[in-house]
Amino acid sequence: MSTAQLPAKMQAIGINKTGDFDVIEKFELPVPQNAPGNVLVKVHYGGVNFIDTYYRKGLYAISSFPQPLGTEAAGEVVGLPTDEKVLNDEEYKLRGFKLGTNVAVYGLGSFAEYVSVPWTKTYSLPDGVSTRTAAAGLTQGATALTFVTEAYNVQKGDIILVHTVAGGLGLLFAQLIKRRGATVIGTTSTPEKAEIAKQNGADHVILYTKEDTVQRVLELTNGEGVHAIFDGVGKDTFESDFKMIRRKGTIVSVGNASGAVPPFPPLKLVEKNVRLLRPTLGNYVYTPEEGRHYTTELFNLIAKGDLKIRIHAEYPFTAEGVQQAQKDLTGGKTVGKLIVKVAPPGDA
Ligand SMILES: NC(=O)c1ccc[n+]([C@@H]2O[C@H](COP(=O)([O-])OP(=O)(O)OC[C@H]3O[C@@H](n4cnc5c(N)ncnc54)[C@H](OP(=O)(O)O)[C@@H]3O)[C@@H](O)[C@H]2O)c1
Repeated sequence: MSTAQLPAKMQAIGINKTGDFDVIEKFELPVPQNAPGNVLVKVHYGGVNFIDTYYRKGLYAISSFPQPLGTEAAGEVVGLPTDEKVLNDEEYKLRGFKLGTNVAVYGLGSFAEYVSVPWTKTYSLPDGVSTRTAAAGLTQGATALTFVTEAYNVQKGDIILVHTVAGGLGLLFAQLIKRRGATVIGTTSTPEKAEIAKQNGADHVILYTKEDTVQRVLELTNGEGVHAIFDGVGKDTFESDFKMIRRKGTIVSVGNASGAVPPFPPLKLVEKNVRLLRPTLGNYVYTPEEGRHYTTELFNLIAKGDLKIRIHAEYPFTAEGVQQAQKDLTGGKTVGKLIVKVAPPGDA
């Protein structure tokens, strides 16, 4: 059997038009017909990300409405691919999907009771990683892991600056960079957030609300600057990154929490021969091999307790719940990951 017995309709939280928080609504949709190359997943939990707010505001384009929000989730397999080519693919076989397998998925529209996702973006969970933790850890964990490996390959002895160090992504950057034997300097807004960042591996935390970040970074690096910067703030911090990076250093523009970085002249790089990247997770886990490689490493780290996923809060599967999650995330008050409780087992 390739598909379990399913209802005809499902609930989803999403948008019918772009705009402010109040465009987020709950609606009923048909349960998706599973495409031949896809896995149909009954969602337990969805992970909340900044990208949800970019879609909601129209910064990132949406092709048709209504569109459920959410780009990651975890749950159980209720429908398998039927395409013979997929079923005979060696990479597909390595995923080990069966009806009932717990998986994490990466794809737009995950705040819904069911989601149909290409098998290449569906990852089996090992024992020891719950669907709750996986929904909280997939995107940010894989982002942190791929970025510290490929955007800038962090080495022992490096000094690395992480903006938004107390955020969902930032706490994972701090842990992974520390594990590699590098020094982590983080920035955040409050002493409470700074304390949590330190518990997650940050060696020095600068309160940018009270201290001069550039001056402190130069003090901590004997005036040389850092080897690399992971900058999830964007517009507000981009200019000053060039004052804190060392010669031949790497600036990784990670996101747009304060707004997108405006257009920029490449000549600016000559002053210190700086490398500048603006990567996305999607392009690091593009092939099935890349996706399996990084998610296997990620879930092993989580299962062994070597990477801790801190859940800030769990929000209900309602329009108000998702609105509140987006308000809290963009309001800058959260420490760690936000998740939406869609329909975990035993919760009927
Ligand atoms: N490129 C990718 O593939 C990828 C993947 C995942 C995430 N991201 C990006 O990574 C960044 C962090 O994501 P996250 O989900 O982990 O969020 P988060 O860091 O948990 O939350 C954002 C944090 O940014 C800080 N911040 C600074 N200026 C801000 C402003 N003007 N408005 C709101 N917040 C501001 C706040 O922390 P403080 O109080 O510490 O300042 C806030 O808590 C985002 O820019 C996101 O788009 C990129």
